[in-house]
Amino acid sequence: FDDRKNSFGPNIEIESEWTPFKAKIDSFMGQDKQWRAYPIVGGEKVETGNTHLVQSPYDHSQTAGQLDWADANTVSKAIDLAQAAFPAWSAHSASERADCLDRTADLMEDNYAELIALCHREAGKTIQDSIDEVREAVDFCRYYAQQARSHFAAPTTYIDFLGQDKQAQLKGRGVFTCISPWNFPLAIFAGQIVAALVVGNTVIAKPAEQTSLIAMRAIELMHQAGIPTDALHLLPGDGATVGAPLTSDKRIAGLAFTGSTGTAQLINRTLAARGVAPVPVIAETGGQNAMLVDSTSLPEQVVRDAVHSAFASAGQRCSALRVLFVQADIADRVIPMIRGAMQEQSVGLPYLHSTDVGPVIDKKAQTILLEHIEHMKSVGTLIAQSALPDFADKGTFVAPTAFEISSIDQLTDEKFGPILHVIRYKARDLDKIIDTINCSGFGLTMGVHSRNETTCARIANRARVGNLYINRDQVGAVVGVQPFGGQGLSGTGPKAGGPHYLQRFAIEQDL
Ligand code: NAD
Ligand code: ALA
Repeated sequence: FDDRKNSFGPNIEIESEWTPFKAKIDSFMGQDKQWRAYPIVGGEKVETGNTHLVQSPYDHSQTAGQLDWADANTVSKAIDLAQAAFPAWSAHSASERADCLDRTADLMEDNYAELIALCHREAGKTIQDSIDEVREAVDFCRYYAQQARSHFAAPTTYIDFLGQDKQAQLKGRGVFTCISPWNFPLAIFAGQIVAALVVGNTVIAKPAEQTSLIAMRAIELMHQAGIPTDALHLLPGDGATVGAPLTSDKRIAGLAFTGSTGTAQLINRTLAARGVAPVPVIAETGGQNAMLVDSTSLPEQVVRDAVHSAFASAGQRCSALRVLFVQADIADRVIPMIRGAMQEQSVGLPYLHSTDVGPVIDKKAQTILLEHIEHMKSVGTLIAQSALPDFADKGTFVAPTAFEISSIDQLTDEKFGPILHVIRYKARDLDKIIDTINCSGFGLTMGVHSRNETTCARIANRARVGNLYINRDQVGAVVGVQPFGGQGLSGTGPKAGGPHYLQRFAIEQDL
């Protein structure tokens, strides 16, 4: 994928690039701009009357708009239409479907200002995170388009030893449900959908409750790009009312899910209980991600990468660093430097250039994180806490916080926010530590900082994680370059943005 650094996005440090780019975003930032979202079924907006206000995470007195949640009738109608549309959509050539993805990417780039404003106002994303969000969505569209042209356009011919030719073609399976989280409200939302569509499936998309406004704009752009309105439907709503029937319905031929491990387990049980043929579930879930730092590493580089991995995006990345293991010999150098770096972090309004860390998504998330911080005060030692702005009470801010603890066993589940745990270890215990991390059952990302190649190779061989990063940060996988996905409790694979992803959405049919 040689187009990975697509042209989208300015260099925000260069004023002549940044100023006109930002001016366009600002035109969507006033309170007079309010979005209105609905379920979209067969291209029609459905008014259900179950209307919810969308508050901006950085200031709950401000809204980004309103949306109607889907009801049982809307869910049922969307499945009927998606099923009826499958033969026609799957009969298109892979190249025709791929063209729709490329046009979607173009439209996302054309509409960047509105999409970035929605990332700020609905999801509380910072400027850099919002630019990266649009770029990743564009990359998913272009990458899967290219993959579909390479692997789905022509049948594969197998020649057996008797000289008989056999041909097989990768094809869509039917109606795919795509369920996504709020933390990548455009990139993951769009990535799942376009992957399922380009293979020939029809799609019903259920975005996260918190971020359905941007989801609706994405669906509108996909329809505008030529994806038929009866092949792609949007059903905003909660897990119980909308997600559950989209899982339990016997007509669903496959499901792509990104979210928490607990929800993935629930979905798996529901699918199994349907009593029909098993269908593929592509689940990308949570992590308890570690970084291992040995005494040969460069402390300045470690601190930069650890602080970025733990606190960028307010720690609301599945890939984010949660547990930093520092070899005891250098811990007394590294820990004070972490404290210093955290004092420099600016927590604030996500749409300002000066902000490093924005708000967390909502009150529920904030409460869980604040309770964890309180608990950690009793079992660990506070290293540092970044300062909160004086308007923090208006929204849901959580100060980036770091604790020193004695064992990873003190952490039970994923805490999805800006909280870092630091553990000192002795060099002789390295293998034991990797085994303990493996034993947690999670296996998403791991960072390694060492200038000893043997140590890096030893860790890489022993750790059971999806994405391993050496001497750099451990967030921000690039589509087509760092295919992203975990193992065990962290996901089923195949990795998103990688060469094996689309095949999982397809069946191989003999011709
Ligand atoms: P979540 O599990 O609460 O919700 C995810 C989606 O599932 C939402 O759309 C929700 O409405 C839906 N849902 C909830 N109950 C359901 C049910 N019974 N049936 C069907 N759908 C249901 O997760 P979240 O809080 O939105 O997202 C954060 C989580 O996502 C974190 O655990 C994070 O690690 C994970 N995540 C993983 C990746 C990855 O690639 N591995 C990427 C982003 C986020
Ligand atoms: N793909 C996202 C990252 O790498 C989750 O940070």
